[in-house]
Amino acid sequence: MKIYKTIFVAALTCVVSIRSFSQTISASLPKDYLTKEFHAGRRDALRKLMPDNSVTVIFAYPERVFSRDVNYAYHPNPDLYYFSGYKETSAVLLIFKDTQHGQDGDYNELFFVQSRDPQREQWTGRRLGVEGVKSKLGFSKVYNSEEFANSPVDLKKFSTVLYDGIPEDEGNMKGLYNAFRNKVNVPEMDKDVQEVVSMIAQRGNPGNIGRIMTYFKGKFEQPEYKDNEFLGPFINKPDSISLAELKSKYNARFGGLAAYADEMNALRGVKQPEEVELVKKAVEISSIAHAEVMRAIKPGMSERELQGIFEYVHKKYGAEDEGYPPIVGAGANGCILHYEENNVTEVNNQLVLMDVAAEYHGYSADVTRTVPANGKFTEEQKAIYQLVYDAQEEVFKLCKDGVPYSQLEDKTEEILANGLIKLGIISKAEDVRTYYPHGVSHHMGLDVHDKGEYGKPLKENMIITVEPGIYIPAGSKCDKKWWDIGVRIEDDVVIGKDKCTLLSIDAPRKWQDVEKMVADRSIFDLAKFPPLK
Ligand code: GLY
Ligand code: MN
Ligand code: MN
Repeated sequence: MKIYKTIFVAALTCVVSIRSFSQTISASLPKDYLTKEFHAGRRDALRKLMPDNSVTVIFAYPERVFSRDVNYAYHPNPDLYYFSGYKETSAVLLIFKDTQHGQDGDYNELFFVQSRDPQREQWTGRRLGVEGVKSKLGFSKVYNSEEFANSPVDLKKFSTVLYDGIPEDEGNMKGLYNAFRNKVNVPEMDKDVQEVVSMIAQRGNPGNIGRIMTYFKGKFEQPEYKDNEFLGPFINKPDSISLAELKSKYNARFGGLAAYADEMNALRGVKQPEEVELVKKAVEISSIAHAEVMRAIKPGMSERELQGIFEYVHKKYGAEDEGYPPIVGAGANGCILHYEENNVTEVNNQLVLMDVAAEYHGYSADVTRTVPANGKFTEEQKAIYQLVYDAQEEVFKLCKDGVPYSQLEDKTEEILANGLIKLGIISKAEDVRTYYPHGVSHHMGLDVHDKGEYGKPLKENMIITVEPGIYIPAGSKCDKKWWDIGVRIEDDVVIGKDKCTLLSIDAPRKWQDVEKMVADRSIFDLAKFPPLK
């Protein structure tokens, strides 16, 4: 009896200690993830939009090689995450419009997921597996992804199969894509060309034809683009009629891709309250980081060191990642829109453009500040900065329900053009694009350049950036005194009924406030490390 009691006590102690161990672990994990009810609600919302007799097929992203046998940190496909909460590779989710009747009961979704593998998991981390997806994510029909190829699901019987473009590098997802191709007729085209065709069909609108032509100029001179049946007529005559023809031809051939894009844009472009909360956190964290970097910046610092301060602050607040590769560009580097090298060892007395933001639980912020490293804007820098600021202020006023997206762009061009003419940098308004080559806004969410209905009016609870910018690289046809000035101010707003809510308020925007913040002290002023030997 005694011995049993001892074993029982030992077992109990053990259970108690295991329990408190697991409680310690869960107590120290974040508690603000999206819930399985959120993801289920999104699947129901999708079903409502799907056409009759249709199925949506969503694949996980492939893994990407970083170096030989080392992969990049895995980033889930935002669509798959949105509809399921699943963050692993080797998976495919099928969402049916109507209830299906199978041998083992009725269902309206099937999920094929990465199988458990204790040996691999010891090396590369935990996997949810079939049981975990059932219990944690709330799906009932879950199978190992190896079963997809031979599963009895017959995709040919559906009037529309909605799916996204298959990436060029299929990697570890090749087996699942091939199984899909065997189950349904996937129209094929050179993938690079198809990507461009899809992008234009999905995101082209009469207001951005000019920018499309400039952006793809090099490609459009190549035979595979200019002779392409979809692109040829549009390249020849880039107007709204050719664009409409391209779209309707695209819809006829790639109906599944077009419908997929439409539905993702409609759903993901308007944020649910839980999503707004996560974006707010991502933006608040990013703005606090910008403020700290302003306090810390000194002419002797390197671009990389500034990047490091951002990333430290992001992680201090629990952000898992950056929403995109950080851009920290001093002087001339500030004129390179997506400068990512960040390898200048001393920023000196230059203007530093910093487009850096956090990703929190999958949701990205997108914030840019442009700061004089020595704390004082020169007269020329100040003039450009004020112009960009003024454009931003005017665009904020348009950020409300019902305003066509294109008005934001038109207003930005108008203000920047007038300002650049006044400063003597351009002589006619149409030259504004020389110094303002990008768009003023994009949706922001699970993707930094998020899905959304770009051709339509703004709606409540959309989240977009407002990011005018002027970039005057050396050699530009204007007075030398403007050369190498690159200024972008980028903020994130939630669209409301009558006005927007600015989320990135913790990062100063006015030039006077930026100068004040640079004069302030930072805890990083105290960071002293030994020199390398
Ligand atoms: N950070 C990329 C962008 O501003 O769009
Ligand atoms: Mn942006
Ligand atoms: Mn940005």
